[in-house]
Amino acid sequence: MPNGEIFSLNLIYGYLVMCGIVGYIGNRQAQPILLNSLSKLEYRGYDSCGVAVQGSAIEVYKDAVRVQELKQALPRLSGRLGIGHTRWATHGEPSQINAHPHLDCSGKIAVVHNGVISNFQRLRQQLTSEGHSLVSETDTEVIPHLIEKHYQGNIEKAVEAALGELEGSYAIVVLVAGEPKVIVARKDCPLIIGVGDGENFVASDVPAILDYTNRVIYLEEGDIGVITKDSIKITRGKIRVDRQEHRISWSREDVQKASYEHFMLKEIHEQPKAIRDTLGEYVLSTEPLIDLGLILDPNLEDLSILACGTSYHAGLIGKYVIEELLGIPVRVELASEFNHCRRTIPSTATIVLTQSGETADVLTAMKKLLEAGIRTLVITNVPGSTASRVADQTVYIKAGPEVSVAATKTFIAQLMMLYQLALSHPGVNRRICERLFAELRQLPAKVQQVLDNEHQIVDCARYLSEYDDVFFIGRGINLPIALEGALKLKEISYIHAEGYAAGELKHGPFALLDRDTPVIAIVAHDNTYGAMLTNIKEVKARKSPVIALADEADEVIGQLADLVIRVPCVSSIFSPVVNAVALQLLAYYTARCRGCPIDFPRNLAKSVTVE
Ligand code: M6R
Repeated sequence: MPNGEIFSLNLIYGYLVMCGIVGYIGNRQAQPILLNSLSKLEYRGYDSCGVAVQGSAIEVYKDAVRVQELKQALPRLSGRLGIGHTRWATHGEPSQINAHPHLDCSGKIAVVHNGVISNFQRLRQQLTSEGHSLVSETDTEVIPHLIEKHYQGNIEKAVEAALGELEGSYAIVVLVAGEPKVIVARKDCPLIIGVGDGENFVASDVPAILDYTNRVIYLEEGDIGVITKDSIKITRGKIRVDRQEHRISWSREDVQKASYEHFMLKEIHEQPKAIRDTLGEYVLSTEPLIDLGLILDPNLEDLSILACGTSYHAGLIGKYVIEELLGIPVRVELASEFNHCRRTIPSTATIVLTQSGETADVLTAMKKLLEAGIRTLVITNVPGSTASRVADQTVYIKAGPEVSVAATKTFIAQLMMLYQLALSHPGVNRRICERLFAELRQLPAKVQQVLDNEHQIVDCARYLSEYDDVFFIGRGINLPIALEGALKLKEISYIHAEGYAAGELKHGPFALLDRDTPVIAIVAHDNTYGAMLTNIKEVKARKSPVIALADEADEVIGQLADLVIRVPCVSSIFSPVVNAVALQLLAYYTARCRGCPIDFPRNLAKSVTVE
């Protein structure tokens, strides 16, 4: 039964924005908890941040700095109740005045907000004409002023009335001087409540609260919550509602860097576990079994896959795998293209790949599918995410929390799920299936081998870090890996990189090849092998340095390429896994050589909640 009814159909024809919001109420000092929680949400935006703490009055500190810098600059704010925000600017540049929290005229009502108030211009004019003085360029600032306008002694009623005037999207936390509670509300932006003993937490996402509790309530569309240290009251349309409490299996260690310099490196190294956990959930010892009722329909004639970015590359590999094993056509669509350029619905069933489950382009595409009555299966990493609640069916990859903006272990876990999905279909030849399943179970060890040999990649990275332009070339099932390798390199090292079908270089890009443009060639031992060797010779003839990614058994490649990165031998169908891990490491170490801020690359955020 589709969950569509809980998916606000107002969702996203406008824009959603990132930003992380947090709140705390309890017996402990709020300031350190707010700052710690905010530091876990910087993947949602990090151009400015701020906190408001309620002591005898509300004190607000904010600036256009990262959370760590705010932490150092802050005086000690005494209070056991507070809210915080880390911003990804939309309305108004990153600055102290535009940072959240925002206050009303009296300074007694503080608000943090994630989302966009689409009618804020009109509201602002109206509020100004009524004597309110608004100081920032943000859309958010109208919210505390509206609450102030409606406040007649009952803050809950005032928030409700203010929300009634807002158009657009929001997750908000409201703090009022003298009131021992926070008010929360959401529409089209995620918001969770962390349940503690004698204390409660609010956050945009689970990692923010894992240091304190693993008990979580996901607010639904239109919910308004009143939270004290001992109680949580949720209403929807003035009617009291019960929201189930969930236990989160992610641990606090999962969202810490441990001894690694960056989350990205830690997450790359967690991939053998991510594979085991994702397979372990569904694979029985002798028989593949995955609950994919929707897709297991024996009469399934075609399938489409929708996704963005790295998830899209996983989808492209899924296409090869499913077409090869099931013999049905698969269309892979970029959600952003599907939303604006396609009138026709691609097929009768759709797999949606989104690690975060919050990508705006994907959610808009899902809305379109829902309206057309198309069945959707979401593959995501985040329990309770919007996509998981919209889909007909959801399966979870078990990658654990991924903090670094660059997707790594979620990509590999997505591949695992796609392999299982294809191999679980009754149409697949059982003998082939058993052989491939046996090999699938060996993949954690194969990936571990790539990780154990990372020194060879460090050398190549040092070499690559000197260049400004790079091509990645692949063929067949490794063409998406060329695209993914280029995406990874450009997003964290800022080197211009293009992923290309090896056979296409001669149709244009050859014009760019010279000794200053290295080419990274993914060499697979399948029916593309001979053609790829020819391509490498063509590239060498244009004087481009070649770094080849080849398996250990390849005795020829060393004579053709300038540098070779060796990966373990696996069947061609699984070669994207070991190749992807090697290219993640290559991107990581290249970015490190160049001194880039690897986990938080400029202009990017982990959940892309803007269209
Ligand atoms: O959460 P999603 O899988 O829907 O995210 C899609 C893309 O935004 C994401 O894969 C992005 O391309 C990554 N930063 C790539 O590393």
